[in-house]
Amino acid sequence: MFSIRAMTLDDYDTVIELMRATPGISLRDADSRESTARYLARNPGMSFVAEIGGVLCGCVMSGHDGRRGYLQHLLVLSEYRRQGIAKALVGRCLTSLEAVGIHKCHLDVFKTNLAAARYWQSQGWQLRADIDRYSFTRSGNDNA
Ligand SMILES: CC(C)(COP(=O)(O)OP(=O)(O)OC[C@H]1O[C@@H](n2cnc3c(N)ncnc32)[C@H](O)[C@@H]1OP(=O)(O)O)[C@@H](O)C(=O)NCCC(=O)NCCS
Repeated sequence: MFSIRAMTLDDYDTVIELMRATPGISLRDADSRESTARYLARNPGMSFVAEIGGVLCGCVMSGHDGRRGYLQHLLVLSEYRRQGIAKALVGRCLTSLEAVGIHKCHLDVFKTNLAAARYWQSQGWQLRADIDRYSFTRSGNDNA
């Protein structure tokens, strides 16, 4: 059986390794240790890791802007999938957001990540066809 606990900065190296090894997850400069420390400090107790027998086998990060929640970097190591770990991780995020009055959460999925699309839709997340996301990078750094 797996256990879930809040992610801390001590998990950073392991979590980044998991992300690097998982197709469909993109890493940006915004995933640096410094940015992750800021994110965790701004959104305490809203990012989680899953462990089985001391192995960190899944993670998710979430936070909010005071109005809407945002969820990112959900992943479960392939050999640990299909046992409810992602469902439990996402549940913890939604519960922690709800605890501070945030009842709606958004997330981004690459259009090429069809497995993720199937997953989110199977879990009742609604694909938004009515909005386009626009992004602007002031630094001009494409990997910001
Ligand atoms: C998507 C992912 C996190 C699912 O992890 P998981 O631990 O296997 O998922 P769970 O076991 O919690 O599954 C929960 C539910 O989703 C369903 N599900 C899981 N993977 C699915 C998939 N690829 N397609 C459709 N449904 C899926 C399960 O059947 C289960 O449904 P149920 O609650 O009705 O029984 C995992 O496949 C993964 O890490 N993928 C690569 C990373 C990725 O793409 N992440 C999303 C980026 S936005």
